[in-house]
Amino acid sequence: MLLESIDQTRLEVSPTLDPKRRSKLGQFMTPGRIASFMAGMFDTLPPDVRLLDAGAGMGALTAAFVAEALGRDVRPASIDVTCYEVDERLASILDDTLAACADQCTGAGVTFTSRVIRDDYILQSAEPLLREQRAYNCAILNPPYGKINQTSEWRLGLRSLGIETVNLYTAFVAVALGQMEAGGEIVAITPRSFCNGSYYEPFRRILLAGSAIANLHVFESRRSSFKDDDVLQENMIFRVRKGAEQGDVALSTDETEARNVPFSDIVRPSDRHAFIRLPVSGNDLADSVQALPCVLADLGIKVSTGRVVDFRTRDNLRREPGADTVPLIYPQHFHDGGIQWPIPNFRKHNALADNDDTAKLITPAGIFVLTKRFTAKEEKRRLVATIYDGERAGFENHLNYFHENGEGLPLDLAKGLAAFLNSDAVDQYFRIFSGHTQVNATDLRNLHYPSRDQLEALGRGDTTMDDLL
Ligand SMILES: C[S@@+](CC[C@H](N)C(=O)[O-])C[C@H]1O[C@@H](n2cnc3c(N)ncnc32)[C@H](O)[C@@H]1O
Repeated sequence: MLLESIDQTRLEVSPTLDPKRRSKLGQFMTPGRIASFMAGMFDTLPPDVRLLDAGAGMGALTAAFVAEALGRDVRPASIDVTCYEVDERLASILDDTLAACADQCTGAGVTFTSRVIRDDYILQSAEPLLREQRAYNCAILNPPYGKINQTSEWRLGLRSLGIETVNLYTAFVAVALGQMEAGGEIVAITPRSFCNGSYYEPFRRILLAGSAIANLHVFESRRSSFKDDDVLQENMIFRVRKGAEQGDVALSTDETEARNVPFSDIVRPSDRHAFIRLPVSGNDLADSVQALPCVLADLGIKVSTGRVVDFRTRDNLRREPGADTVPLIYPQHFHDGGIQWPIPNFRKHNALADNDDTAKLITPAGIFVLTKRFTAKEEKRRLVATIYDGERAGFENHLNYFHENGEGLPLDLAKGLAAFLNSDAVDQYFRIFSGHTQVNATDLRNLHYPSRDQLEALGRGDTTMDDLL
């Protein structure tokens, strides 16, 4: 009942929040049914719960936690809640939510105490004089999303706690993990972006070293969790237990029940970047890509990002090819597996001046496989590969190119590689194992590939993707 009324408040209040401030503070409230689902994830609750809800908003998560605790066969004897919230308007609604939680607990014979700290969770946790010396045994979090700049106060505060991270949401989880007592559990809903990408590697290291992952829950439909808020992030929920030994991970989605997955399928022992993979059940194609034998280095091939950053070499850009120019290739030149160049009336530039300044930006003549680094959300594929076969050229920075020590590739290999990268299987692989729509060079280095012989056979048409998987 409490949860329903706060869900109603969310629907009424959310649209009235100042959009700018809302985006700045990452104010996207958890819908009631998701809050309940998260609360239900906690293992047996300790008899004396000390709960943290950092970035508590109107208190949906705490309310769900209390409802869950009171609904269990074995109830805790006491619940003590610490909420952090910087927004005064939300904090005053939060006061009411906590008062309602207190009433419910009293009715059920459970002691309830709480406090709302109207302060910045990160800065307060980092400041020795202000720091609350509390150790929590449960945390339920929907932290704010927002970039942390190099020079921000947050960055410095986090550094004093030994945490390097680039986003508020990972900062909240890392700080909370530090404040948990051994065996304490965190259930959090966050974007999926921390699972891969090099920026989040330090955070993954903190999470994996300090806790065992117990549950991963993935939202397969992009908007399912925050329909009312229209948030486009891809979200996930995870439960971790501080200081516990890592066992199998229960992996579920909003469309499938949990199944136990060996941890080595989630974080590959050989993975130098400790990517967190989400092998959502039932996708045979993606799983078979993961089972392929090679990484890029095994093929003797490298992938690099196009060297021409157009705004850094403005004087050398030419709309049309001329006497002393080479082709300048943008993703817009990709056409049907090959290159359409020059583009008539191209908004950007078709050519790059060929001079001493640009010598370092130009790749030798040859055959290269090019991929787009960014694809629009609505684009059919996550990865789009094409073949460039031609004279010396400048490859623009929004694309990656595969090469052999800077030189082009043999034709059969290039054809096979492009066919592989454009396959349904690789598309499925990136949809499942990557939280973002960007496919960067690191992602391509860590992708699993058929052997070089197999790719060449694919290029010659002597074999098919079905045979290789
Ligand atoms: C994503 S919302 C989630 C709210 C609530 N936990 C829920 O699930 O509905 C994050 C909340 O954190 C608050 N917030 C943002 N930055 C904060 C900070 N540095 N310290 C404390 N709270 C913060 C925002 O005002 C917002 O209410």
